[in-house]
Amino acid sequence: MKQVFLFFGLSLLMGTIAVFALCGYDTTAISHAAPVEAATSHPTTPFAEGCSKCHGTEPAYQEWKQAGHSHALVNLIEGPYEVQTSCLSCHSSGYEVFSDRVYPGHTYNIETAVNAVACSSCHSHNSRSESLLVKPAKKLCVNCHKMDCGCAGAGIVHQSQSEMFLGREGAGVKRMPSPHVRAMKKRCVHCHMAKEDPETVAQHGGHTFKADFSVCSTAGCHDSADNSMETKLPQYRAEIEAKMQAVKTMLDAAPNKTSQAYLDAKLNYDMVKGDSGYGLHNIPYANALLDYSLSLKSALE
Ligand code: HEC
Ligand code: HEC
Ligand code: HEC
Ligand code: HEC
Ligand code: HEC
Repeated sequence: MKQVFLFFGLSLLMGTIAVFALCGYDTTAISHAAPVEAATSHPTTPFAEGCSKCHGTEPAYQEWKQAGHSHALVNLIEGPYEVQTSCLSCHSSGYEVFSDRVYPGHTYNIETAVNAVACSSCHSHNSRSESLLVKPAKKLCVNCHKMDCGCAGAGIVHQSQSEMFLGREGAGVKRMPSPHVRAMKKRCVHCHMAKEDPETVAQHGGHTFKADFSVCSTAGCHDSADNSMETKLPQYRAEIEAKMQAVKTMLDAAPNKTSQAYLDAKLNYDMVKGDSGYGLHNIPYANALLDYSLSLKSALE
């Protein structure tokens, strides 16, 4: 009886090894993955994107190469925070594709990641949409640019442009999308990719994704003397900064820093601060958030 069990056990073991060999669980494949220092796109790894082969001389590629998205992986690795594999879902392309569900044996993690926020985060030749986008323009940026990165506990608070622009997630204030949400079909893309000449490599707009205030004065928008952003922005900014100072003084003085009122007041403050320092993407919402925080004054004492 014993021998039968022994035989059975042995064949099970051999079988398992054979199955692993057949499935190609070849761990040496991982060593193809390049070291991360050339994190934009590494020519010697099969996991690099390869878009530059055909698109390398176009303005889109040239603009991307010199701007923030192409540094996202290096900045993540060199940043002050503890890095988890989940950070790669926004700081690197290929997180889904190269996970070991799809490529058995190739574990996609911070050691093996080679792409920054590269072309394939937003484009695919398999897409049927305009500009071969993987998601409609209006949904593309908010996917990554959100305050809650799902990395609770990692000690990092991301910026709040999406929440501010869409006017949500704040405490005690009803939803209040920026007036631009309705006026701009492509939302973030409308301002951050605006570009005068599609044929030249831009210093802002296009694939640099850098907006500046010149987009405000586009014909038909803030282009007359009485609604010019040049005069209005400093006024908005001064008004909001004064309120922020008042909220900060109130938060600093609060004896109980764990009460719900304190957490609500602080959330609203952090949201405004996390959006260019003063709630640039939605001034009315920024005012409402800070007003609500100030209304909690007596609850904080
Ligand atoms: C073998 C060459 C080749 C490679 C590699 C390649 N492309 Fe293309 N791509 C083309 C051609 C050809 C077109 C169609 C011509 C055009 O519109 O420029 C095109 C079109 C596009 C467009 C649409 C351009 C527009 O004007 O709407 C995008 C976006 C794009 N490719 C992205 C990518 C991305 C992202 C990669 C890498 C994952 C990639 N391509 C890899 C050849 C290539
Ligand atoms: C796959 C996730 C992802 C998507 C999609 C994405 N971003 Fe980013 N973006 C990032 C990360 C990560 C950074 C930080 C890069 C760094 O380390 O400086 C960043 C940085 C930026 C910056 C700062 C640029 C700089 O040069 O410092 C702007 C502006 C920006 N993104 C706008 C956009 C816009 C507009 C869209 C939509 C068209 C978009 N992003 C889509 C992840 C993303
Ligand atoms: C963060 C998202 C994002 C990334 C990363 C990105 N693109 Fe785009 N790309 C877009 C969007 C959005 C558009 C459409 C712009 C519009 O509709 O105004 C676009 C348009 C294009 C076009 C059409 C013509 C043009 O220049 O507007 C080409 C070509 C292109 N991208 C190539 C690339 C290549 C090559 C890369 C990698 C170097 C890349 N893109 C990286 C979002 C992205
Ligand atoms: C939901 C998408 C998302 C996830 C997940 C995410 N990030 Fe980010 N991260 C961003 C975007 C977008 C930016 C650029 C704008 C900002 O600061 O919010 C950024 C910026 C950063 C920066 C500043 C980069 C610079 O300019 O120097 C650091 C550092 C960072 N993230 C670390 C992390 C770490 C660590 C994790 C994982 C624990 C992580 N991120 C997870 C989207 C994300
Ligand atoms: C109405 C035009 C407009 C829209 C729409 C818009 N932005 Fe902005 N954004 C700006 C301007 C202007 C700045 C400030 C640039 C400066 O300081 O020069 C900015 C700043 C930023 C920054 C900080 C850039 C940096 O260098 O640190 C990020 C990130 C950003 N926006 C992301 C977004 C995202 C994500 C969306 C969509 C949810 C969006 N923006 C929608 C105009 C716009």
